[in-house]
Amino acid sequence: MKENLAPGVWRLEAGEALPAWVTRLDRTAFGSPWKAPADHEALWLIPELAFARWACIPAAGEAELLRIAVSPEARGQGLGRTLLEACQRELADAGMTQLFLEVRAANASAIRLYRACGWKPVGRRPGYYPDGEDATLYQRTASEPH
Ligand SMILES: CC(C)(COP(=O)(O)OP(=O)(O)OC[C@H]1O[C@@H](n2cnc3c(N)ncnc32)[C@H](O)[C@@H]1OP(=O)(O)O)[C@@H](O)C(=O)NCCC(=O)NCCS
Repeated sequence: MKENLAPGVWRLEAGEALPAWVTRLDRTAFGSPWKAPADHEALWLIPELAFARWACIPAAGEAELLRIAVSPEARGQGLGRTLLEACQRELADAGMTQLFLEVRAANASAIRLYRACGWKPVGRRPGYYPDGEDATLYQRTASEPH
């Protein structure tokens, strides 16, 4: 793993195995763990406490936040914000210009986090999730100051 500019935030290098705690937290937060990261994906971690998984399209200068999660006992202490801001900085340094994400319309704590980090709602996808809930699409310019 490689330490990010922010102390305590690490990036999983290509080819490194997904740590077991990430799989456990993925299951706790989302009900099921995602598969191993693909080549175009990037994962940032605060070890044992939080992860953020992104898909990158370098040719387009775009990246999409696929999942972010903080351990339940560590929520509300600023870790989500530290992690997200560290990702945003490193993606901007890597040449990404536009960042995107989708979030469940009723996920108030995630929406608070995204708004606090400068994300703006730009669209809605009705019935996007398998249970019928709408997704709200958020966007942020990667290099915008925090
Ligand atoms: C969403 C999540 C990542 C937030 O992480 P966190 O570490 O608790 O967030 P932070 O403590 O950094 O808070 C960031 C901002 O969001 C706000 N916030 C976060 N959780 C909140 C809550 N439950 N209620 C109210 N505000 C909340 C904080 O006030 C803070 O704003 P501020 O900096 O202006 O005060 C975390 O709740 C989580 O893992 N949820 C389950 C997984 C999930 O839903 N992920 C998002 C979809 S991919």
